[in-house]
Amino acid sequence: MSAERIDSDVATIRPDYKDELFEFLKNNSQLDIALGSAFPSPHLFPIADLNRHLASAGRKSPAETVIQNMPPGNEGLRRLIAQRYITEGIAVSHQDIVLTSGAMEALNLSLEAICEPGDTVVIESPAFYGALQAVERLKLKAIEVPVDPITGLCLDSLANALADNDVKACWLMANFQNPTGVSMSDDKKKAVVELAEQHQVYLVEDDVYSELYFGEVKPAPLKLWDRSDRVLLCGSFSKSLCPGYRIGWVVNRALNEKLQKQQMISTLAGSGPIQQGVAHYLQYESYDNHLRKLRKQLAARQSAFITLIKRHFPAQTVVAQPQGGYFLWLELQQSVDTYQIYRHLCQSGISIGYGRLFSSKQQYQNCMRLNISFEQTKPLCEAIIMLGQLITDHSDN
Ligand SMILES: Cc1ncc(COP(=O)(O)O)c(C=O)c1O
Repeated sequence: MSAERIDSDVATIRPDYKDELFEFLKNNSQLDIALGSAFPSPHLFPIADLNRHLASAGRKSPAETVIQNMPPGNEGLRRLIAQRYITEGIAVSHQDIVLTSGAMEALNLSLEAICEPGDTVVIESPAFYGALQAVERLKLKAIEVPVDPITGLCLDSLANALADNDVKACWLMANFQNPTGVSMSDDKKKAVVELAEQHQVYLVEDDVYSELYFGEVKPAPLKLWDRSDRVLLCGSFSKSLCPGYRIGWVVNRALNEKLQKQQMISTLAGSGPIQQGVAHYLQYESYDNHLRKLRKQLAARQSAFITLIKRHFPAQTVVAQPQGGYFLWLELQQSVDTYQIYRHLCQSGISIGYGRLFSSKQQYQNCMRLNISFEQTKPLCEAIIMLGQLITDHSDN
Protein backbone atom coordinates (compact mmCIF):
# COMPACT_ATOMS: atom_id res chain seq x y z
CA MET A 1 0.00 0.00 0.00
CA SER A 2 1.43 3.41 -0.88
CA ALA A 3 1.41 5.48 2.28
CA GLU A 4 1.05 9.17 1.66
CA ARG A 5 4.50 10.69 2.26
CA ILE A 6 4.68 13.68 4.51
CA ASP A 7 7.38 16.19 5.25
CA SER A 8 8.70 16.17 8.77
CA ASP A 9 8.24 19.86 9.50
CA VAL A 10 6.42 21.01 12.57
CA ALA A 11 2.67 20.75 12.15
CA THR A 12 0.02 22.94 13.67
CA ILE A 13 -3.46 21.54 14.11
CA ARG A 14 -5.95 23.24 11.78
CA PRO A 15 -8.14 25.72 13.71
CA ASP A 16 -11.48 24.06 12.92
CA TYR A 17 -10.28 20.58 13.95
CA LYS A 18 -11.67 20.65 17.51
CA ASP A 19 -15.20 21.51 16.38
CA GLU A 20 -15.13 18.97 13.57
CA LEU A 21 -13.99 16.20 15.91
CA PHE A 22 -16.58 17.11 18.54
CA GLU A 23 -19.30 16.90 15.90
CA PHE A 24 -17.99 13.52 14.68
CA LEU A 25 -17.77 12.01 18.19
CA LYS A 26 -21.24 13.26 19.10
CA ASN A 27 -22.67 11.93 15.88
CA ASN A 28 -21.16 8.48 16.45
CA SER A 29 -22.88 8.15 19.80
CA GLN A 30 -26.26 8.89 18.19
CA LEU A 31 -26.14 6.89 14.95
CA ASP A 32 -27.47 3.33 14.64
CA ILE A 33 -24.54 1.84 12.75
CA ALA A 34 -21.40 3.49 14.08
CA LEU A 35 -18.70 2.03 11.84
CA GLY A 36 -16.75 5.22 12.54
CA SER A 37 -16.79 4.78 16.31
CA ALA A 38 -13.69 3.82 18.31
CA PHE A 39 -15.83 2.08 20.94
CA PRO A 40 -16.05 -1.70 20.65
CA SER A 41 -19.51 -3.28 20.43
CA PRO A 42 -20.82 -3.25 24.04
CA HIS A 43 -22.32 -6.72 23.48
CA LEU A 44 -18.85 -8.28 23.56
CA PHE A 45 -18.37 -7.65 27.28
CA PRO A 46 -19.40 -9.41 30.52
CA ILE A 47 -21.55 -6.51 31.71
CA ALA A 48 -23.80 -8.64 33.97
CA ASP A 49 -20.76 -10.20 35.70
CA LEU A 50 -19.17 -6.80 36.14
CA ASN A 51 -22.33 -5.35 37.66
CA ARG A 52 -22.46 -8.26 40.11
CA HIS A 53 -18.88 -7.65 41.19
CA LEU A 54 -19.49 -3.94 41.55
CA ALA A 55 -22.34 -4.72 43.92
CA SER A 56 -20.33 -7.37 45.84
CA ALA A 57 -17.36 -5.05 46.26
CA GLY A 58 -19.69 -2.30 47.45
CA ARG A 59 -21.33 -4.57 50.06
CA LYS A 60 -17.94 -5.56 51.49
CA SER A 61 -16.59 -2.00 51.79
CA PRO A 62 -17.07 0.26 54.78
CA ALA A 63 -18.85 3.52 53.91
CA GLU A 64 -15.63 5.54 54.39
CA THR A 65 -13.90 3.84 51.44
CA VAL A 66 -16.31 5.55 49.03
CA ILE A 67 -14.33 8.76 49.52
CA GLN A 68 -10.90 7.26 50.34
CA ASN A 69 -9.49 7.18 46.88
CA MET A 70 -6.78 9.72 46.26
CA PRO A 71 -4.07 9.18 43.61
CA PRO A 72 -2.48 6.78 42.82
CA GLY A 73 -5.82 4.94 43.21
CA ASN A 74 -7.04 1.58 44.54
CA GLU A 75 -4.06 -0.47 45.69
CA GLY A 76 -5.68 -3.86 45.05
CA LEU A 77 -6.37 -2.97 41.43
CA ARG A 78 -2.86 -1.59 40.96
CA ARG A 79 -1.42 -4.85 42.30
CA LEU A 80 -3.55 -6.91 39.91
CA ILE A 81 -2.50 -4.79 36.92
CA ALA A 82 1.18 -5.01 37.98
CA GLN A 83 0.84 -8.79 38.30
CA ARG A 84 -0.33 -9.09 34.70
CA TYR A 85 2.74 -7.15 33.47
CA ILE A 86 5.04 -9.30 35.62
CA THR A 87 3.57 -12.42 33.98
CA GLU A 88 4.58 -10.90 30.62
CA GLY A 89 8.15 -10.42 31.84
CA ILE A 90 7.90 -6.69 32.55
CA ALA A 91 9.09 -5.67 36.00
CA VAL A 92 6.26 -3.42 37.20
CA SER A 93 5.41 -2.70 40.83
CA HIS A 94 2.00 -1.44 41.95
CA GLN A 95 3.93 1.61 43.15
CA ASP A 96 4.78 2.49 39.54
CA ILE A 97 1.11 2.74 38.56
CA VAL A 98 -1.32 5.67 38.69
CA LEU A 99 -4.96 4.77 37.98
CA THR A 100 -6.74 7.21 35.70
CA SER A 101 -10.07 7.89 34.05
CA GLY A 102 -9.40 5.77 30.97
CA ALA A 103 -6.24 5.78 28.90
CA MET A 104 -7.17 9.23 27.65
CA GLU A 105 -6.41 10.77 31.04
CA ALA A 106 -3.26 8.62 31.35
CA LEU A 107 -1.94 9.89 28.01
CA ASN A 108 -2.78 13.52 28.74
CA LEU A 109 -1.26 13.39 32.23
CA SER A 110 1.87 11.87 30.73
CA LEU A 111 2.28 14.67 28.23
CA GLU A 112 1.57 17.26 30.93
CA ALA A 113 4.21 15.71 33.20
CA ILE A 114 6.85 15.92 30.47
CA CYS A 115 6.05 19.00 28.38
CA GLU A 116 5.59 22.74 28.70
CA PRO A 117 3.54 24.78 26.21
CA GLY A 118 5.60 25.37 23.07
CA ASP A 119 7.56 22.11 23.39
CA THR A 120 7.85 19.76 20.43
CA VAL A 121 6.51 16.21 20.40
CA VAL A 122 6.48 13.45 17.79
CA ILE A 123 3.13 11.95 16.83
CA GLU A 124 2.17 9.40 14.21
CA SER A 125 0.60 10.10 10.80
CA PRO A 126 -2.13 9.00 10.47
CA ALA A 127 -2.71 9.57 14.19
CA PHE A 128 -5.37 8.72 16.75
CA TYR A 129 -7.41 11.93 17.02
CA GLY A 130 -6.84 11.99 20.81
CA ALA A 131 -3.18 12.72 20.12
CA LEU A 132 -4.01 15.61 17.78
CA GLN A 133 -6.42 17.00 20.34
CA ALA A 134 -3.88 16.78 23.17
CA VAL A 135 -1.24 18.57 21.09
CA GLU A 136 -3.66 21.41 20.48
CA ARG A 137 -4.95 21.60 24.06
CA LEU A 138 -1.47 21.64 25.61
CA LYS A 139 -0.21 24.13 23.00
CA LEU A 140 2.55 21.81 21.80
CA LYS A 141 4.22 21.61 18.40
CA ALA A 142 3.95 18.27 16.61
CA ILE A 143 6.22 16.50 14.17
CA GLU A 144 4.32 13.81 12.29
CA VAL A 145 6.16 10.60 11.53
CA PRO A 146 4.57 8.41 8.82
CA VAL A 147 2.97 5.08 9.69
CA ASP A 148 2.44 2.75 6.73
CA PRO A 149 -0.49 0.33 7.14
CA ILE A 150 1.76 -2.60 6.14
CA THR A 151 5.28 -1.69 7.26
CA GLY A 152 4.32 0.52 10.21
CA LEU A 153 6.20 3.47 11.69
CA CYS A 154 9.01 4.82 9.50
CA LEU A 155 12.06 4.40 11.72
CA ASP A 156 14.28 6.61 9.51
CA SER A 157 11.79 9.48 9.77
CA LEU A 158 11.69 9.07 13.53
CA ALA A 159 15.49 9.07 13.72
CA ASN A 160 15.64 12.24 11.56
CA ALA A 161 12.96 13.97 13.62
CA LEU A 162 14.84 13.24 16.84
CA ALA A 163 18.21 14.24 15.38
CA ASP A 164 16.98 17.54 13.89
CA ASN A 165 14.67 18.82 16.63
CA ASP A 166 14.57 19.32 20.36
CA VAL A 167 11.83 16.73 20.93
CA LYS A 168 10.52 16.19 24.47
CA ALA A 169 8.27 13.16 23.90
CA CYS A 170 6.92 10.76 21.27
CA TRP A 171 3.32 9.54 21.47
CA LEU A 172 3.43 6.13 19.78
CA MET A 173 1.38 2.96 19.43
CA ALA A 174 3.50 -0.17 19.01
CA ASN A 175 0.55 -2.58 18.92
CA PHE A 176 -2.51 -2.37 16.62
CA GLN A 177 -2.11 1.31 15.88
CA ASN A 178 -5.24 3.43 15.62
CA PRO A 179 -6.26 3.96 12.82
CA THR A 180 -4.14 1.60 10.64
CA GLY A 181 -4.11 -1.50 12.91
CA VAL A 182 -0.43 -2.08 12.13
CA SER A 183 2.06 -3.26 14.80
CA MET A 184 5.81 -2.88 15.20
CA SER A 185 8.05 -5.94 15.12
CA ASP A 186 10.04 -6.62 18.29
CA ASP A 187 13.19 -5.41 16.52
CA LYS A 188 11.50 -2.13 15.68
CA LYS A 189 10.22 -1.70 19.25
CA LYS A 190 13.74 -2.22 20.56
CA ALA A 191 15.15 0.26 18.02
CA VAL A 192 12.53 2.89 18.98
CA VAL A 193 13.43 2.58 22.67
CA GLU A 194 17.15 2.82 21.82
CA LEU A 195 16.55 5.97 19.78
CA ALA A 196 14.61 7.52 22.66
CA GLU A 197 17.42 6.65 25.01
CA GLN A 198 20.06 8.06 22.66
CA HIS A 199 18.18 11.38 22.35
CA GLN A 200 16.94 11.49 25.98
CA VAL A 201 13.31 11.63 24.87
CA TYR A 202 10.31 10.22 26.72
CA LEU A 203 8.02 7.71 25.02
CA VAL A 204 4.33 8.05 25.80
CA GLU A 205 3.14 4.59 24.84
CA ASP A 206 -0.53 4.25 23.93
CA ASP A 207 -1.17 0.54 24.42
CA VAL A 208 -4.95 0.17 24.67
CA TYR A 209 -5.39 -2.61 22.07
CA SER A 210 -2.61 -5.09 22.90
CA GLU A 211 -4.92 -7.60 24.65
CA LEU A 212 -6.84 -7.98 21.37
CA TYR A 213 -4.22 -10.04 19.47
CA PHE A 214 -5.29 -12.82 17.10
CA GLY A 215 -2.03 -14.78 17.27
CA GLU A 216 -0.73 -17.07 20.00
CA VAL A 217 1.20 -14.58 22.09
CA LYS A 218 0.39 -11.15 23.46
CA PRO A 219 2.56 -8.54 21.71
CA ALA A 220 4.96 -6.81 24.08
CA PRO A 221 4.81 -3.07 24.77
CA LEU A 222 7.81 -0.79 24.20
CA LYS A 223 8.17 -0.84 27.99
CA LEU A 224 9.67 -4.36 27.80
CA TRP A 225 12.87 -2.87 26.32
CA ASP A 226 12.92 0.19 28.60
CA ARG A 227 15.98 0.14 30.86
CA SER A 228 15.90 3.75 32.07
CA ASP A 229 12.23 4.54 32.68
CA ARG A 230 11.87 6.52 29.44
CA VAL A 231 8.52 4.87 28.64
CA LEU A 232 5.24 6.01 30.19
CA LEU A 233 3.06 3.00 29.43
CA CYS A 234 -0.62 3.91 29.18
CA GLY A 235 -3.34 1.26 29.16
CA SER A 236 -6.99 0.80 30.02
CA PHE A 237 -9.81 -1.72 30.30
CA SER A 238 -11.96 0.29 27.86
CA LYS A 239 -11.30 -1.94 24.84
CA SER A 240 -10.90 -5.28 26.56
CA LEU A 241 -13.21 -5.54 29.57
CA CYS A 242 -15.45 -2.66 30.49
CA PRO A 243 -15.97 0.17 28.01
CA GLY A 244 -17.63 3.05 29.78
CA TYR A 245 -16.17 2.30 33.24
CA ARG A 246 -13.32 4.68 32.44
CA ILE A 247 -10.49 2.81 34.12
CA GLY A 248 -7.02 3.33 32.78
CA TRP A 249 -3.49 3.64 34.10
CA VAL A 250 -0.01 4.91 33.47
CA VAL A 251 3.11 2.97 34.43
CA ASN A 252 6.27 4.92 35.21
CA ARG A 253 8.40 4.99 38.33
CA ALA A 254 10.47 8.18 37.97
CA LEU A 255 7.53 10.45 37.10
CA ASN A 256 5.01 8.72 39.34
CA GLU A 257 4.72 11.48 41.90
CA LYS A 258 4.54 14.17 39.22
CA LEU A 259 1.73 12.25 37.51
CA GLN A 260 -0.16 11.99 40.81
CA LYS A 261 0.21 15.72 41.50
CA GLN A 262 -0.92 16.52 37.97
CA GLN A 263 -3.98 14.34 38.51
CA MET A 264 -4.82 15.93 41.86
CA ILE A 265 -4.88 19.41 40.35
CA SER A 266 -6.94 18.37 37.34
CA THR A 267 -9.50 15.63 38.13
CA LEU A 268 -8.50 15.01 41.79
CA ALA A 269 -8.94 11.22 41.59
CA GLY A 270 -10.64 8.36 39.75
CA SER A 271 -13.85 6.70 40.91
CA GLY A 272 -13.13 4.54 43.98
CA PRO A 273 -16.19 2.26 43.88
CA ILE A 274 -15.67 1.47 40.17
CA GLN A 275 -11.98 0.67 40.76
CA GLN A 276 -12.95 -1.63 43.65
CA GLY A 277 -15.58 -3.36 41.51
CA VAL A 278 -13.16 -4.08 38.67
CA ALA A 279 -10.53 -5.32 41.16
CA HIS A 280 -13.20 -7.67 42.57
CA TYR A 281 -14.01 -8.96 39.05
CA LEU A 282 -10.32 -9.59 38.28
CA GLN A 283 -9.87 -11.39 41.59
CA TYR A 284 -12.82 -13.75 41.30
CA GLU A 285 -13.45 -14.20 37.55
CA SER A 286 -11.21 -15.40 34.75
CA TYR A 287 -10.42 -12.26 32.79
CA ASP A 288 -8.25 -14.43 30.53
CA ASN A 289 -11.19 -16.67 29.60
CA HIS A 290 -13.18 -13.59 28.66
CA LEU A 291 -10.22 -12.29 26.60
CA ARG A 292 -9.82 -15.60 24.73
CA LYS A 293 -13.47 -15.51 23.73
CA LEU A 294 -13.30 -11.82 22.80
CA ARG A 295 -10.24 -12.31 20.58
CA LYS A 296 -11.90 -15.19 18.74
CA GLN A 297 -15.04 -13.15 18.10
CA LEU A 298 -13.06 -10.17 16.84
CA ALA A 299 -10.91 -12.31 14.52
CA ALA A 300 -14.06 -13.91 13.06
CA ARG A 301 -15.73 -10.52 12.61
CA GLN A 302 -12.65 -9.10 10.93
CA SER A 303 -12.56 -11.89 8.38
CA ALA A 304 -16.33 -11.59 7.72
CA PHE A 305 -15.93 -7.83 7.17
CA ILE A 306 -13.03 -8.33 4.77
CA THR A 307 -15.10 -10.84 2.78
CA LEU A 308 -17.92 -8.29 2.46
CA ILE A 309 -15.49 -5.54 1.46
CA LYS A 310 -13.88 -7.73 -1.21
CA ARG A 311 -17.33 -8.54 -2.58
CA HIS A 312 -18.93 -5.08 -2.54
CA PHE A 313 -16.16 -2.46 -2.78
CA PRO A 314 -14.29 -1.42 -5.94
CA ALA A 315 -11.43 -3.75 -6.88
CA GLN A 316 -8.87 -0.93 -6.36
CA THR A 317 -9.72 -0.77 -2.62
CA VAL A 318 -6.62 -1.52 -0.57
CA VAL A 319 -7.23 -2.99 2.85
CA ALA A 320 -4.60 -4.31 5.21
CA GLN A 321 -5.42 -7.19 7.56
CA PRO A 322 -4.22 -6.30 11.07
CA GLN A 323 -3.33 -9.16 13.40
CA GLY A 324 -5.49 -7.79 16.19
CA GLY A 325 -7.73 -4.96 17.34
CA TYR A 326 -10.97 -4.04 15.61
CA PHE A 327 -10.12 -1.47 12.96
CA LEU A 328 -9.67 -1.78 9.22
CA TRP A 329 -7.94 1.05 7.36
CA LEU A 330 -8.99 1.35 3.75
CA GLU A 331 -7.25 3.26 1.00
CA LEU A 332 -9.49 4.18 -1.94
CA GLN A 333 -8.93 5.87 -5.28
CA GLN A 334 -7.57 9.42 -4.97
CA SER A 335 -10.83 10.81 -6.39
CA VAL A 336 -12.85 9.52 -3.43
CA ASP A 337 -13.40 12.01 -0.61
CA THR A 338 -14.46 9.96 2.41
CA TYR A 339 -15.74 13.07 4.23
CA GLN A 340 -18.38 13.51 1.51
CA ILE A 341 -19.28 9.82 1.84
CA TYR A 342 -19.53 10.21 5.63
CA ARG A 343 -21.94 13.13 5.26
CA HIS A 344 -24.08 11.19 2.86
CA LEU A 345 -24.17 8.09 5.10
CA CYS A 346 -25.09 10.07 8.23
CA GLN A 347 -28.51 10.72 6.70
CA SER A 348 -29.08 6.94 6.80
CA GLY A 349 -27.85 6.60 10.41
CA ILE A 350 -24.42 5.23 9.45
CA SER A 351 -20.97 6.62 10.25
CA ILE A 352 -17.43 5.90 9.05
CA GLY A 353 -14.10 7.21 10.36
CA TYR A 354 -13.28 9.48 7.40
CA GLY A 355 -9.58 9.88 6.67
CA ARG A 356 -8.90 13.55 7.32
CA LEU A 357 -9.86 13.14 10.99
CA PHE A 358 -6.55 11.37 11.50
CA SER A 359 -4.39 14.18 10.21
CA SER A 360 -3.46 17.70 11.28
CA LYS A 361 -3.41 18.80 7.64
CA GLN A 362 -6.46 17.25 6.01
CA GLN A 363 -4.46 14.34 4.57
CA TYR A 364 -5.87 10.85 3.96
CA GLN A 365 -9.01 12.22 2.29
CA ASN A 366 -9.25 9.00 0.29
CA CYS A 367 -8.90 6.72 3.34
CA MET A 368 -11.28 5.54 6.03
CA ARG A 369 -11.28 3.59 9.29
CA LEU A 370 -13.99 1.01 9.90
CA ASN A 371 -14.85 -0.55 13.26
CA ILE A 372 -15.37 -4.29 12.67
CA SER A 373 -16.37 -5.25 16.22
CA PHE A 374 -20.11 -5.37 15.48
CA GLU A 375 -22.17 -8.45 14.78
CA GLN A 376 -23.05 -8.82 11.09
CA THR A 377 -26.77 -8.25 11.32
CA LYS A 378 -28.85 -7.63 8.19
CA PRO A 379 -28.84 -3.80 8.71
CA LEU A 380 -25.06 -3.85 9.15
CA CYS A 381 -24.52 -5.88 5.96
CA GLU A 382 -26.85 -3.52 4.10
CA ALA A 383 -24.87 -0.54 5.44
CA ILE A 384 -21.61 -2.02 4.13
CA ILE A 385 -23.18 -2.71 0.73
CA MET A 386 -24.45 0.90 0.64
CA LEU A 387 -20.96 2.14 1.54
CA GLY A 388 -19.44 0.02 -1.24
CA GLN A 389 -21.91 1.45 -3.74
CA LEU A 390 -21.19 5.05 -2.68
CA ILE A 391 -17.45 4.47 -3.04
CA THR A 392 -18.02 3.00 -6.50
CA ASP A 393 -20.10 6.06 -7.45
CA HIS A 394 -17.32 8.40 -6.27
CA SER A 395 -14.54 6.43 -8.03
CA ASP A 396 -13.17 7.39 -11.45
CA ASN A 397 -14.13 4.18 -13.19
C1 LIG B 1 -5.59 4.69 20.38
C2 LIG B 1 -6.44 5.06 21.53
N1 LIG B 1 -5.87 5.54 22.64
C3 LIG B 1 -6.59 5.90 23.70
C4 LIG B 1 -7.96 5.79 23.69
C5 LIG B 1 -8.73 6.21 24.90
O1 LIG B 1 -8.96 5.10 25.71
P1 LIG B 1 -9.93 5.21 26.99
O2 LIG B 1 -11.32 4.99 26.47
O3 LIG B 1 -9.47 4.13 27.89
O4 LIG B 1 -9.75 6.56 27.56
C6 LIG B 1 -8.61 5.32 22.56
C7 LIG B 1 -10.06 5.24 22.50
O5 LIG B 1 -10.65 5.20 21.46
C8 LIG B 1 -7.82 4.92 21.45
O6 LIG B 1 -8.37 4.44 20.34
